[in-house]
Amino acid sequence: MAETGRFTLRRSPDEGPGFAEDIRAGLTAVRKVIPPRYFYDELGSALFDAICRLPEYYVTRAENELLGGYRREIAAALGGVRRLVELGSGSARKTRLLLDELAGPLEYVPVDVDVSMLQRTGHELLVQYPSLTVSALSYDFRRAARAVRSMAAPSGSTSVLFLGSTIGNLDADEATALFRDLRAVLNPGDTVLLGADLRKPKAILEPAYNDALGVTAAFNLNLLQRINRELGGQFDLRSFAHRAFFDDNLSRIEMHLVSLREQTVRIEGLGLEVSFTEGETIHTENSYKYDDEMIGALTGKAGFRIEKKWMDTKGWFAEYLLV
Ligand code: AVJ
Repeated sequence: MAETGRFTLRRSPDEGPGFAEDIRAGLTAVRKVIPPRYFYDELGSALFDAICRLPEYYVTRAENELLGGYRREIAAALGGVRRLVELGSGSARKTRLLLDELAGPLEYVPVDVDVSMLQRTGHELLVQYPSLTVSALSYDFRRAARAVRSMAAPSGSTSVLFLGSTIGNLDADEATALFRDLRAVLNPGDTVLLGADLRKPKAILEPAYNDALGVTAAFNLNLLQRINRELGGQFDLRSFAHRAFFDDNLSRIEMHLVSLREQTVRIEGLGLEVSFTEGETIHTENSYKYDDEMIGALTGKAGFRIEKKWMDTKGWFAEYLLV
């Protein structure tokens, strides 16, 4: 195959704790929790793609409109970029809008935890963009800085894309730590393009995470299904419900799985029994909603400055250019 030479895939040498360890730690904690990166197994990634097409989930549409409308300007602002690193690349649908505008040979470095998605997307892009090389990294994006460091590049030639408000999954400390790591491996003149979902009324936010078709509920419950599939769990999915709400003080959507009755669930592969009281929840995701001040604080502490900002026509989503 002609594209074979243009595609490489590197797996993280030390992923740290894996699914089993994180599930054990999360379900034996006083406040039960599952990290949101475990949403994205094959079914979960497909469900997330479906979420992006829901009428209530404005996030993807707003960012697409924004990137579509300003793609010339944004591509120009990235300067003479030769290497495009994308954290949490997924299906890279939005990235293509920028790739269409960036001329010349370019190395695309998608970073994602879903290997099959990296392979599929990588090969699609190679067919679509003949002057592209793809160096895929199967890494948790929080560890990506390490991988980027090992690929030296001249100043001003690297842009890091962090789109889709994926940053919203991180608490302030984690976000600042990620930007510090990035700052340490980037050179002067390199840039970060950060997509962030903005604060807006509850009446818009909450339906986006409580869609009428129940796709977000399925996306959330798939975590339990995944434990059943991969760890021999015995979760009865009908005994748990999806819950999502906006906490204005913390400026975040919280997603939970609520136990509908008192129950004990065996997870064979972990040799573990987990007890739930009625109404007890597993906290599965935070999705922060930002304003300029919050973004300035998160990234400023790490040594970045907001150089430019673009918004969609409704002012619901922003793309920040950080230098
Ligand atoms: C991919 C983290 C941006 O927080 O909106 C969508 C994930 N969760 N619906 C978000 C998600 C429920 C999404 N991010």
